[in-house]
Amino acid sequence: MERNTELLNAEKAGILRASALLREGQLVSFPTETVYGLGATAVDDKAIARVFEAKNRPTFNPLIIHVADLAMAQQFGVFSQQAEKLANAFWPGPLSLVVPLKPDVGLSPLALAGHDTVALRVPSHPVALEVLRAVNGPVAAPSANPSGALSPTTAAHVLHGLGGKIAAILDGGPCGVGVESTIVDCSTTPTLLRHGGVVPEDLMRILGQTVLEATAPSAAPKAPGLLRSHYAPKARVRLNALAPEPGEVLLGFGPNLVDATLNLSPTGDTTEAAANLFRCLAELDATGAASIAVSPVPKTGLGLAINDRLERAAAPRTDP
Ligand code: TXA
Ligand code: MG
Repeated sequence: MERNTELLNAEKAGILRASALLREGQLVSFPTETVYGLGATAVDDKAIARVFEAKNRPTFNPLIIHVADLAMAQQFGVFSQQAEKLANAFWPGPLSLVVPLKPDVGLSPLALAGHDTVALRVPSHPVALEVLRAVNGPVAAPSANPSGALSPTTAAHVLHGLGGKIAAILDGGPCGVGVESTIVDCSTTPTLLRHGGVVPEDLMRILGQTVLEATAPSAAPKAPGLLRSHYAPKARVRLNALAPEPGEVLLGFGPNLVDATLNLSPTGDTTEAAANLFRCLAELDATGAASIAVSPVPKTGLGLAINDRLERAAAPRTDP
């Protein structure tokens, strides 16, 4: 959807406007010390669906959740001693920590791509911190570029890539670091998932131990059994179903589906369907049904990412 993108100065009024738009569920790009982020409130599935739409992403990957301080981070994630050491040493700063998700804290399952861990970060850019304090809630922010393009380090760069697709860009000048945050998984033995603004030697100095390096850095798990997730259904998943078979529940898409237990989007809107996907799968799985049949979802817009996720869920299970 084309729209006018507001260009905001990173002064008091601009920051207030940006935070008001974010609270309404609109997309706002803001500067961090690493790269410009494409921000959306992390408690609203619809806002998160629009992030994937604006970036034109073919798959759902979990997004980094930005918060104003460690106290806010601890509302959403469980911090081990090691995670707390790293947060105390490097926050605010270019480090994202993956930690176990606390249950029922209201984060969008789409923002987490169904994972039961969450990547949290407190950026050090003063404008980012002011925005986060004014929003007073978690903000998902991937880099503000279309999928496959370079991460943007200036407002002009963001405008070039996403102008007309997002509500506003908060111009805070060029980003200092220029590469994304380092990501460390602290839900297990500390493991480096992505190199970035904080170097491994500094992590090791604080932890007093070596940091493992993931062989396939934060690659999306291929088999559903490998997805540590309470949204990975236990039920079998049958795709492109026109009607449920005995013992099945039907996850519908589109109008006139009287047999559907739940419907991703009665109007056939792929963005609405994306917003509902992980929540609906979890809800149907909780019925205890042996199999979830899913209506065909067109491979257009976010339908590509929805099909990617459903195909993973429907793939033969290789785990024990
Ligand atoms: O520097 C940055 O971190 C920038 C600025 C804007 O803050 N943000 C950024 O966000 O790079 P994003 O959403 O593009 O990074 C997402 C990556 C995912 O591709 C994945 O590798 C990792 O973060 N990630 C997020 N949540 C995760 C989780 N629960 N487990 C493992 N990896 C996760
Ligand atoms: Mg990126």
